[in-house]
Amino acid sequence: MDSELDAAVRATDTDAAQARLSAVNKGYLSDDVFIQFFIPRSRYLPPRPPLINVGTFIRATAIDMLVDKWIQLFGRVQVVSLGAGSDTRFWRLSTAGKSKSLEHYVEIDFPENTARKAHSIRKNDALNRHLEDITIDQGGTALRSTQYSLIPLDLRNPPSIILAPLISSGLLKRSIPTLFLSECVFVYMPPAASDALVRWFGENFEIVGGTLYEMFGLTDEFGKVMRANLMVTSGVDAYQTLEAQSARYLQHDYTHATSITLKTVRRHYIPSAELQRIAFLEMLDEIEELDLVLDHYVLSWGVKVAPGSDDEVVRHAVSWGIDRVDDPANDKDELEEGEIQQDA
Ligand SMILES: C[S@@+](CC[C@H](N)C(=O)[O-])C[C@H]1O[C@@H](n2cnc3c(N)ncnc32)[C@H](O)[C@@H]1O
Repeated sequence: MDSELDAAVRATDTDAAQARLSAVNKGYLSDDVFIQFFIPRSRYLPPRPPLINVGTFIRATAIDMLVDKWIQLFGRVQVVSLGAGSDTRFWRLSTAGKSKSLEHYVEIDFPENTARKAHSIRKNDALNRHLEDITIDQGGTALRSTQYSLIPLDLRNPPSIILAPLISSGLLKRSIPTLFLSECVFVYMPPAASDALVRWFGENFEIVGGTLYEMFGLTDEFGKVMRANLMVTSGVDAYQTLEAQSARYLQHDYTHATSITLKTVRRHYIPSAELQRIAFLEMLDEIEELDLVLDHYVLSWGVKVAPGSDDEVVRHAVSWGIDRVDDPANDKDELEEGEIQQDA
């Protein structure tokens, strides 16, 4: 029997999806016509407060930039979205003309969530017309297609058991540059389980990148308030600092890792034209509170290349990341407090 805690963890997807829908409806995220299809009665949901919309915009924009850069550097890639929930990235990449770059796109979540998603995909032509040769499997919880697969798994189980079949069945190929995404997922897992996933990806693909976004450092006064208001498990306590977040990768022989807070992302990584555009969408009074909230979310990315890879591949891997925006308005040469870059 599933525990109540697992049900609460699965339900965090509803919150994430509704936050995204709100940011889309308010004009923050303009490219997502798909999220509505994953949310029942989406038309009747009230918008989220401006602070949440801005946070959703910063997070989504930064992760989109990391994914786009991975594709741009490597040309043909695999993406594995861990705890994908109602994420729409596959469809957004398809409509942005990037489906040719996707060797395969895999989404993994608990069976209850994948069943719901598979149902939405089957039901909505706006979603299923982007997929070829769809088959539904495992009692409606799994969906396979030529380029996209939705797979029901509990990611707390050993990856050598649950993920290895993705390679042995030919769904994922070791030689294709592989990006795994963990958007607000590891925080709900025991650290030993999330570590095992980072290690497994590093050991099983020739070129691998990892992207992670989640709340962290919930030990100060503001963090304690956030903790009381958010659904969190002990997973949130494992990596409290930016250095520790980067160590997630480096301890498993990834060669480069960068960790920054979302506050830093907003200040230095989002083009000022975009920040100006969203400033006109809604009145946001609580700038200080926004900074405090964003300071408790981390975006990190790490990369690993198999020894003996050719120089160009290594150069591409090392250059992967999001770049600081060279805006006179917010440019500073030195790295600031909320940002660390480390090489192994
Ligand atoms: C906060 S939601 C984030 C969804 C999506 N990544 C996003 O950012 O919009 C967390 C998701 O991770 C999934 N998840 C958490 N722990 C998991 C586990 N052990 N196995 C599979 N999925 C898990 C939840 O079911 C949920 O869909």
